[in-house]
Amino acid sequence: MAHTQRKLNKPKLHNRMKGVILAGGLGTRLHPLTKITNKHLLPVYNKPMILYPLETLKRSGVEEVMIVCGREHAGHFMQFLGSGREFGVKCSYALQDKNNGGIADALRYAEDFSDGGPVAVILGDNIFGQDFKKEVSSFKQGARVFFKEMQDPTRFGVPVFDKGKKQILLIEEKPKAPKSNLAQTGFYLYDNEVFSIVKTLKPSARGELEITDVNNNYLKRKKLTFSVIKGLWSDAGTFESLLNVSNEIAKRSI
Ligand code: G1P
Repeated sequence: MAHTQRKLNKPKLHNRMKGVILAGGLGTRLHPLTKITNKHLLPVYNKPMILYPLETLKRSGVEEVMIVCGREHAGHFMQFLGSGREFGVKCSYALQDKNNGGIADALRYAEDFSDGGPVAVILGDNIFGQDFKKEVSSFKQGARVFFKEMQDPTRFGVPVFDKGKKQILLIEEKPKAPKSNLAQTGFYLYDNEVFSIVKTLKPSARGELEITDVNNNYLKRKKLTFSVIKGLWSDAGTFESLLNVSNEIAKRSI
C-alpha cells in the first residue's frame, strides 16, 4: 500500500508545455468594433487577431492550447477555432466570470488544464514576428519574461534596473515616467507556482489583477529571468496599434 501511495505521488513528467491564450476583457478601447465581436477576433490585416498568438505558440512547439475568454461573444471563438485541428493545435476553452478581472484573473481558469506543469502564456492581442521555441524547450522553473525596446513604453509594464543595468529591481505597470526604454511584452513562461501566486493578488488601481504583480512576485524571490527580443512586436488593443500592426504585417506578410 505504502509503495502504491509513493507511486501515485510521483511528480508527472511534462515534456510538452501547454499554452494559454488570455483573451478576456471588454475591449472598450476598440468600441464600437467590440460591440459586434470580441476584440481578439477583429481582423489584423488578413487574419482574425487570435490566429497570431495561436501561431506563435504553435511555432514555439506548444500544441495544446486553452483560450480563456470573457462571456461576450464567447461562442464566436468556438465557431471560428473549433477543436483547433484545422490550425494544427488542440484547443480547449474556459470562460472568465468577471469580464474586467484582468489578465492575471483570467490565468486562474487554466489551473486544471495545466495539470501541474509549466505554461506558456500569451495575450490574445499580442503579435510577434518571432517564435520562442528555444526558450520553451529549455524552460525549467520560475518565470521568464520578454521585453522589447520602445521609445515610449508608458502603456506597458516597464522594468527598473539596478545601477549596473543587469538586474531588474522591479517592473512598474504603465509608469508615467518610465525608468528604462523596455516594454514588457505579452508572452510569459511560468512554472506551476503561478497558480498559487495569482490567488494572493489584490486588484490594482485600475481594479484588475495584474500580470506585472505576478512577475514581481517571481522577481522578489529571484526566480524571474528575462530576454530582450529584437523582432516585430506589437499589441493590437487600440485603434492606432491595430492599424499600425496591420500595415506592418501587410508589408512583411508574416
Ligand atoms: C498588459 C500588461 C502590460 C504589458 C502589456 C503587453 O497591459 O499589463 O504589463 O506590457 O499587456 O501587451 P494591458 O494590455 O492590460 O493594458
